[in-house]
Amino acid sequence: MPGRPARALKRLAEPGVQRCINRACGAAYSLRERIYLCPKCGETLEIDCRLARPKNPDFLRRSWAAGAKSKLPRDASGVWRYHALLPFGEDAPLVTLFEGNTPVFQAPRSAEYCGLSDLRLKHQGYNPTGSFKDTGMAAAMTQALISGASTAICASTGNTAASLAAYAARAGLKAAILLPHGQVSSSKLAQSLDYGALVLEIDGNFDACMRLVQELGDDPSIYVANSINPFRIEGQKTVAFELMEQCLWQVPHHVVVPGGNMGNSTALGKGFQELLDLGLIKRLPKLSVIQAEGAAPVAHLFEKLSPKQRADFENLPEKLEPVENPQTLATAIKIGAPVSWKKALRAVLRSGGKVIAVSEREIADAKAMIGRDSIGCEPASATTVAGIKKLVASGHIGRRDDVVAVLTGHALKDPDYMIRYHEGTLTAAHGAKDPATPKPMVGAFANAPQRVAATKAAILANLERRA
Ligand code: F0G
Repeated sequence: MPGRPARALKRLAEPGVQRCINRACGAAYSLRERIYLCPKCGETLEIDCRLARPKNPDFLRRSWAAGAKSKLPRDASGVWRYHALLPFGEDAPLVTLFEGNTPVFQAPRSAEYCGLSDLRLKHQGYNPTGSFKDTGMAAAMTQALISGASTAICASTGNTAASLAAYAARAGLKAAILLPHGQVSSSKLAQSLDYGALVLEIDGNFDACMRLVQELGDDPSIYVANSINPFRIEGQKTVAFELMEQCLWQVPHHVVVPGGNMGNSTALGKGFQELLDLGLIKRLPKLSVIQAEGAAPVAHLFEKLSPKQRADFENLPEKLEPVENPQTLATAIKIGAPVSWKKALRAVLRSGGKVIAVSEREIADAKAMIGRDSIGCEPASATTVAGIKKLVASGHIGRRDDVVAVLTGHALKDPDYMIRYHEGTLTAAHGAKDPATPKPMVGAFANAPQRVAATKAAILANLERRA
């Protein structure tokens, strides 16, 4: 009976453990322990769900499809209907705002722009708070309740903050948010305030906020909700499951995502790997991550890896050279020291993908092109289309390959950027000789509004002129 996926699939997930990703350490900890880095070696952790291979994968697929049609939050949520593959017991207090179930759009104009015959965009901006963070936050807030925390905290460039604020409120927890003062779009800040979070603006950038959050995580009253928390990743990995359902289990050649703190790429990589391990897909899509040039520490590292190092995803480089003063107008990914870089790099290398950087101008034009496809997204999301264009030009992506880009945030997250692009007043510090004097950027698809006299004749003449 495919109506109750969670119950039907109970056998698949054992309780699981939190495991250090450092192979030389490999320490395992109970799911109950509130830790974010390995207490033995300081490396990041991931959850090993100890999934068992299903005898009948088709049954699993059918029960997920049935769940999507259910009215019960537990089955209808794009996170909780995959409960059988998540590290939560049957009696877990599942927190949900009906996240997930986001659309996949055909994007013909963006495809042509990239030199592809076809391109699909999975839009995570259609989540309850307008960004991809909600799938992970449903899982993180559920675990926060299980662990008995009273205050959930995050550092954020804005979207994690809005998502935490909403999901903490839903869970009845206090939300505390550290934001880099003056570097977050007003739409995102407004959301956090409206959901009732305690917003603390810090003089410093996102990386400074992230360091503070890691210090605060030692306090027993505090629960860290950044993607360094492995339960966040568990919620976000469901995007890979949902995408494969939407692709009718035909694995795309390439999946492309933006890269900031590298939680999203980590999560998608984990999701695809688990589907492979479970026998639900036969190969991994090549996972590529795109960063903004002025905030691209992982792309810089990737570029320096030899072919031998790229093939050896089990022995990753020990250190990442951080970018001290990251710069990009895509403020969501203005990050110089991403916490999940190792897990993400491992996923990219394992799949045969790449990490590359794109310029401010490339991001801005790609964003306008996505808009022309009647989709729209925030600037960070547009790195994907800009990156795909470059990867097609370099031959990594074939013109007839099946490509899916994951858009991470809604267009209305940063309206100021859009207006300035179209009015031709956008200026970028990255790439300018002197960062104090930002460089003007005139976009290829600028579409400025024009003032017109309030007469029928003037309006018709204007439309004629701009045809
Ligand atoms: N796209 C958007 C719209 C984001 O908000 C972020 C990250 C990313 C992409 C990058 O994802 O960090 O998982 O590699 N935003 C975080 C925040 C940092 O605080 O909202 P990532």
